[in-house]
Amino acid sequence: MIAIDGPSGAGKSTIAKLLAEALGIDYIDTGAMYRAVALCSLGSGSPPDWLDGIEIDFADGRTWLNGEDVTDRIRTPEVTKEASRVSAIPEVRAKLVGLQREMGRRKSVVMDGRDIGSNVFPDARYKFFLTATAEERARRRTKEMQEKGMEADYADVRKDIEKRDWDDSHRSVNPLVKTPDAIEIVTDGMDVSEVLASLLTKIK
Ligand code: DC
Repeated sequence: MIAIDGPSGAGKSTIAKLLAEALGIDYIDTGAMYRAVALCSLGSGSPPDWLDGIEIDFADGRTWLNGEDVTDRIRTPEVTKEASRVSAIPEVRAKLVGLQREMGRRKSVVMDGRDIGSNVFPDARYKFFLTATAEERARRRTKEMQEKGMEADYADVRKDIEKRDWDDSHRSVNPLVKTPDAIEIVTDGMDVSEVLASLLTKIK
């Protein structure tokens, strides 16, 4: 079990995916699971009513919700906002943490999120805390959005990132924290291959 935690926009999912590929193991994106619950919540009303029966799966590099491919639909700004809200609901966390523990018990995986090393798998063999300054994360995110042809204003993006940082690290259930045994990597000024190499060196 390799746990990768950190604030939003630090590049966790890019690195986690590449690391899993390099090691030949599965990658589990727990943020996508909160996003899938958020998508359900926007369509079916607030949890926990339908939470028990929810099925989330990762196969063929896609995210599946109750048998439907929702990979792209969970990336909209509306779902992002709702994911932040539902991730603070204790019943939602209990349900998803249970699913994550099941997924990680079955096989060796790379799992990324906010509370993997602190709560989901406190005994993970490797724990990384991947971060970057809010400035750097906002710069990367603005560039990424503009490259996709979306409108993005650096100041707005940075304000959004700072709000999510605050919400993620101040919620009462399983907030984002760096555990003392996690290896912190501050990725300002590093490119993807440098970050990946740094993780691989620590693992090997
Ligand atoms: O990493 P992301 O942006 O896809 O995460 C979506 C939301 O879910 C974000 O608000 C943080 C939350 N989250 C969480 O609370 N715990 C996790 N293990 C993963 C994500």
